[in-house]
Amino acid sequence: MSKVKTLKVIPVTREIMDITSKESIKAAFKKYQPQLVVHLAAYTAVGMAEYERRLCYRTNVWGTEQIALRSPFLIYMSTEYVFDGEKGDYNEGSVPNPLHFYALTKLLGEFEAKKARKYCVIRALFKPRPYGYDRVQCDQWTSGDYVDVMAKKIALAIKNYEKLPKILHIGTARKNLYQLALQTVKKAVPIRRISLPVRLPRDTSLDTTLYEMMFERKDEGEIVTERDIEAVNRIKAGTTLKYAKKKNENRH
Ligand SMILES: NC(=O)c1ccc[n+]([C@@H]2O[C@H](COP(=O)([O-])OP(=O)(O)OC[C@H]3O[C@@H](n4cnc5c(N)ncnc54)[C@H](OP(=O)(O)O)[C@@H]3O)[C@@H](O)[C@H]2O)c1
Repeated sequence: MSKVKTLKVIPVTREIMDITSKESIKAAFKKYQPQLVVHLAAYTAVGMAEYERRLCYRTNVWGTEQIALRSPFLIYMSTEYVFDGEKGDYNEGSVPNPLHFYALTKLLGEFEAKKARKYCVIRALFKPRPYGYDRVQCDQWTSGDYVDVMAKKIALAIKNYEKLPKILHIGTARKNLYQLALQTVKKAVPIRRISLPVRLPRDTSLDTTLYEMMFERKDEGEIVTERDIEAVNRIKAGTTLKYAKKKNENRH
């Protein structure tokens, strides 16, 4: 395991920095002059985002751009939902294809994050413990986990920010959301995605080989499988954003 830096953390709430206001962002950056920015603020109401598109875009895309332009190093928290879920097991080089407006704005935020001097886009999914709902999708697969589990993994990446790749997938073993919910809500009832008002992807599980190689193996970076070799090649190739860009170009 590599040496880890001690970081002084300044939690910044909406009251200190409203990311829809340039003045507020400017003032906060002037006051704190951060070396590293972990950007977590977002409009996250997936269903409501379809009806509040302007606010969702302003927060997740414009707000991220303003933060990126002022960040010496930016860690941007993105989501498994940038993928359409048709295939699952997505790696950092897989092509995103968001199904709903929230996910689209998070993907556009990934491109804005590139405007920082240095950056890393982390893709993940995390749920409150105990799970927040009784009725839970049994046909939606993920690498996400409870927030306490995920926070430890994400914190380890943040502490090692200087060696992060441009995109990093973080998660635990593939499971469906109902299986995850059952761990903490015994009366959870399985439902299907079709019964929900918003279109959700079927399988956004992530290939987390790169993270495991960097942070979870005894011999850091040890190559043991074909997937390891692919993961290393993804770093050399510059990872996902290249592919995503190509795809957008094709649309014009
Ligand atoms: N939960 C997941 O599975 C998941 C997965 C992947 C990525 N993410 C990303 O991880 C981050 C945190 O997600 P979460 O699930 O913890 O969501 P959350 O509980 O909704 O937290 C979002 C935070 O953003 C703040 N915020 C919203 N608009 C703001 C604004 N204009 N200015 C300043 N702050 C603002 C909110 O402040 P208020 O409390 O004042 O509203 C809230 O503290 C988000 O970027 C989200 O997109 C989440």
